[in-house]
Amino acid sequence: MTPHNEFRSAVVVVGGSRGIGRAIAKVAARDRNVVVLIARSPEGLTAAAAEVQQAGGEAFTLELDLLAADASERLEAFLTANDLVCGVLVNSAGYGLRGAATLLPLNDQLGIVDLNIRALTDLTLRFLPGMLARGRGGVINLGSIAGLFPGPYMALYYASKGFVHSFSDALHQEVRRFGVTVTCVAPGPVSTEFLEKAGANRAALFKILPKLDAEYVAERAWRGFNSGRRRVVPGISAKLLTLVAFLPTAAVLPLIGRLQRRSKDP
Ligand SMILES: NC(=O)c1ccc[n+]([C@@H]2O[C@H](COP(=O)([O-])OP(=O)(O)OC[C@H]3O[C@@H](n4cnc5c(N)ncnc54)[C@H](OP(=O)(O)O)[C@@H]3O)[C@@H](O)[C@H]2O)c1
Repeated sequence: MTPHNEFRSAVVVVGGSRGIGRAIAKVAARDRNVVVLIARSPEGLTAAAAEVQQAGGEAFTLELDLLAADASERLEAFLTANDLVCGVLVNSAGYGLRGAATLLPLNDQLGIVDLNIRALTDLTLRFLPGMLARGRGGVINLGSIAGLFPGPYMALYYASKGFVHSFSDALHQEVRRFGVTVTCVAPGPVSTEFLEKAGANRAALFKILPKLDAEYVAERAWRGFNSGRRRVVPGISAKLLTLVAFLPTAAVLPLIGRLQRRSKDP
């Protein structure tokens, strides 16, 4: 404990062991921030912490499965025990699954709801009141271009990102007058382990779309957040893809369905 219980503000990166979260942690560290990295894999957390320190930040790590019922309480207790408050929350933990919703394992699909929606909501609403009281900081939520329309053969993932967009936009409006920002980052495909783990790499859509680097997305996300932006869409290709949202749903559904369906799907 520091003397007189002086709490320091931290950038808390949920999903900080790899991919976009880890890249945002590194960018935040350049501004000499205290960065708290959260994920399940100890190896990833150790490597990410070393990068944060190398970039000029101070790193803490917490091994945590966000799907555990007491995850957010444990994170809050960890911060308090280290005399930290969550000044900026980065919600980057998330996963998707490609395949027919009726065939993919139900529990794995419910896990998307629990992680991409429930955990993100819990953490956001747990830490926002403190930010409002302090009149600074905010939340970076990882949405996706997939949040702009329905996605046959990746139905749960697209729907979960639709939630992230709607929730983040509404909160942005509610909290901005307190000097607090909620930014939703909506990239197209990014070169991380996400696409392989989702089984999406083999679908035509992800073969034809260009992929961004996590570092580029992180730079844009951090800069947009610090400028008080509501939405960050990194890269020209993702910006062009947002135009698909203006097409009628009746046209978008068969188009995405065809590009994400594989021959073994029903
Ligand atoms: N990559 C893309 O093409 C893309 C495009 C648009 C949006 N996004 C979104 O961006 C976010 C980050 O994606 P990414 O590409 O960086 O994915 P990633 O490389 O798979 O990283 C996901 C991160 O979340 C953590 N995580 C996963 N499940 C967790 C759990 N139950 N508890 C705690 N941590 C957990 C992972 O760490 P552990 O496995 O060690 O726990 C890892 O740090 C996601 O929300 C994704 O939907 C990605």
